[in-house]
Amino acid sequence: MIIPLSKKHTRSFNRLAYRVRSHHKVQDMKGYIQHGNVSVYDHVNAVAHTAYTIACALKLKVDEKVLIEGALLHDFFGYDWHNDKVKRRFFDMHGFTHARRAADRAVKHFNVDLRTRHVIESHMWPLTLRSLPRSREAVIVCIADKIVSLKETLLRR
Ligand SMILES: [Fe+2]
Ligand SMILES: [Fe+2]
Repeated sequence: MIIPLSKKHTRSFNRLAYRVRSHHKVQDMKGYIQHGNVSVYDHVNAVAHTAYTIACALKLKVDEKVLIEGALLHDFFGYDWHNDKVKRRFFDMHGFTHARRAADRAVKHFNVDLRTRHVIESHMWPLTLRSLPRSREAVIVCIADKIVSLKETLLRR
């Protein structure tokens, strides 16, 4: 992101990210690749950081916990999707299904509320056409994911 976070915002970010980032199931995401040579763990951190930076830079009134936990858990699907060699029907493919799976796992392991669940479930819009982001936090995470994914895909080696 172009605008770096202030020291105060960096402290808030780290404090709010701690519960999710310290969990062993989230640490496991270091072992799964997202794009190029970027792990899912690094990807979700970049998305959370970008989402929080957008909210701070534009002085948007958001629930910071919902925004940061939703962003950190948006790809909490728990497998390496590059290893999925099973032939699936089009709408059963990773792109269409992983947001729902990530949301279910976020509820199971972190007992996240409905607003955080919505951030996770709607992050793949417009691919998942019916899960339109309907909250400020969900819109920001959806945009941050597109920015970070594009950057990771363009810079892949
Ligand atoms: Fe995703
Ligand atoms: Fe993502």
